[in-house]
Amino acid sequence: MDDLTLARVIHVISVVVWIGGVYFVTFVILPVIKSAADPVARFEAVENQFVNHAKIVVILAGLSGFYMLHKLDGWERYLDANFWWVHAMTFLWLIFTLVLFVAEPLFLHAWFTRRAAIAPQQTLVLASRFHKIMTVLSLITIVAAIYGVHG
Ligand code: HEM
Repeated sequence: MDDLTLARVIHVISVVVWIGGVYFVTFVILPVIKSAADPVARFEAVENQFVNHAKIVVILAGLSGFYMLHKLDGWERYLDANFWWVHAMTFLWLIFTLVLFVAEPLFLHAWFTRRAAIAPQQTLVLASRFHKIMTVLSLITIVAAIYGVHG
């Protein structure tokens, strides 16, 4: 297997684990725990369990993505609107990177805990809405990337 193919395998596997995990939390875990006795604590336990997986695959997806761009001599794709799907992948990656590595540890977690103590159900609805938006954006980005590469 050449290194470009290996990077593509790492890229796609990372995206499967990452977006699959976000999909599962959004459409399976959140609806199930909504009616639990302590939904916020359960939601946090699920997120705590997934967060390190997410961090690792987000790093791997970024490294393999930039490596492929480098090997394909494709940096100028960022200057070409026809490669909007490369912009979409990078934009989505940037949002998750910022949320996981900057916003969460700096203020998002503290804000969530404070808000959840005052209005748990509303906070969960907000979290659910944010997860749904991110899942839909992610699925659109995957369709766009496959279309961009093979379409
Ligand atoms: C820093 C962020 C990213 C960069 C630089 C990047 C870059 C790339 C590159 C260069 C390719 C190969 C293009 C080609 O063969 O011409 C690719 C493929 C792909 N990427 Fe990304 N990507 C990033 C993030 C993402 C994200 C966040 C997703 C999904 C949500 C994603 C999904 C895919 C998919 C599905 C393919 C197609 C694989 C195939 O069919 O061969 N990428 N990416």
